[in-house]
Amino acid sequence: GNQINIGLLGFGTVGSGVAKIILEHQQDLHHKLGTEVKIKKVLVRDMTKKRETDLPADVFTDDIDEVLNDPSIDLIVEVMGGMNGAKDAIEASLHAGKGVVTANKDLMAVYGPELLRLADENKCDLFYEASVGGGIPLIRTMEDGLASDRISSLTGIVNGTTNFILTKMKQENMSYEDALAEAMELGFAEADPSADVDGIDAARKMVILASLAFSTEVQLDDVFVRGMKEIQDGDVDLAESFGYTVKMAGHAEKDEDGIAVSVEPVFIPNTHPLASVHNEYNAVYIYGAAVGETMLYGPGAGSLPTATSVTADVVAACRNLLLGMNGKRLHSPQYERKVKSDDK
Ligand code: NAP
Ligand code: HSE
Repeated sequence: GNQINIGLLGFGTVGSGVAKIILEHQQDLHHKLGTEVKIKKVLVRDMTKKRETDLPADVFTDDIDEVLNDPSIDLIVEVMGGMNGAKDAIEASLHAGKGVVTANKDLMAVYGPELLRLADENKCDLFYEASVGGGIPLIRTMEDGLASDRISSLTGIVNGTTNFILTKMKQENMSYEDALAEAMELGFAEADPSADVDGIDAARKMVILASLAFSTEVQLDDVFVRGMKEIQDGDVDLAESFGYTVKMAGHAEKDEDGIAVSVEPVFIPNTHPLASVHNEYNAVYIYGAAVGETMLYGPGAGSLPTATSVTADVVAACRNLLLGMNGKRLHSPQYERKVKSDDK
């Protein structure tokens, strides 16, 4: 057709960014796809909230069925967050033969394999680029860019909120509480920011990255997690006096004994590129047998960066719809799970 209709579930930090990009880049998107991308309906919880947007008021609804059951909607974009409600919505969309784009790492870290299988069964796309690393094209790099390589390890700063807090504490002497409040204010933190500071959000992202890197189903329980609370008073200064920087880092590695995945505060030498990743920025440093060392870097959280990845998935899904390639993906077989448990 000459128009692809989107049902947007959620209009918070990420959802409002998606709408802004789709509206402001309308001409470019039309040029690239040869068709118009239109936001047909938007699900919110609170209809009385004042929203700054150029979308017409009548697209907003608090009734999810109005979005999911609209036959003119081609693609569902889930940016409302949470577990069960989002899972139900994604499943219903896939069962109805509609492709889905999501930024929901909580969901993908736990139900990713199940949902991706459901997408395959229903010949629909399920894309989740924004679930890790905000605006950095990490998922596609793991799936496509490095597809020919054998990855041995990856180390990354994959949580913007904790990196923002550590940066503000170090560079501006800000208190932990003030820095966290600012990260929340800027829309970097999760609805419950303990997921950020306790390392759970990073653990979810490491599950997603490690599963792709090692072609196996890594689970949240496999990840050894220590949160920011482990950082003691004086650690940051002590690290600095030795030429190191304290960072919350995720690490995943694979050898003949299996896979090990962790998230914890670490001392990084100031000469390492990860030491100069500041504020809400993320970076992932990857070792591949053939490529050697490679690093991806960019904004890890926030409205427009995250929405860039979501909208890139929308473009990819639209292309597939237009080509009749929806949900047609060639999967590499998964390796058997082998996780080093002695690391726990
Ligand atoms: P947010 O600002 O809290 O926005 C959530 C939106 O969803 C709001 O518009 C809310 O409605 C709506 N909503 C939530 N639950 C709903 C329900 N049960 N029924 C109807 N509407 C509901 O969240 P966000 O920061 O945009 O995050 C969205 C998702 O993206 C999450 O999965 C998050 O983990 C992920 N993510 C966020 C970032 C980031 O930087 N923020 C980055 C990457 C991924 P109201 O507006 O009426 O409250
Ligand atoms: N709360 C997350 C973070 C959002 O701070 O990294 C991006 O996934």
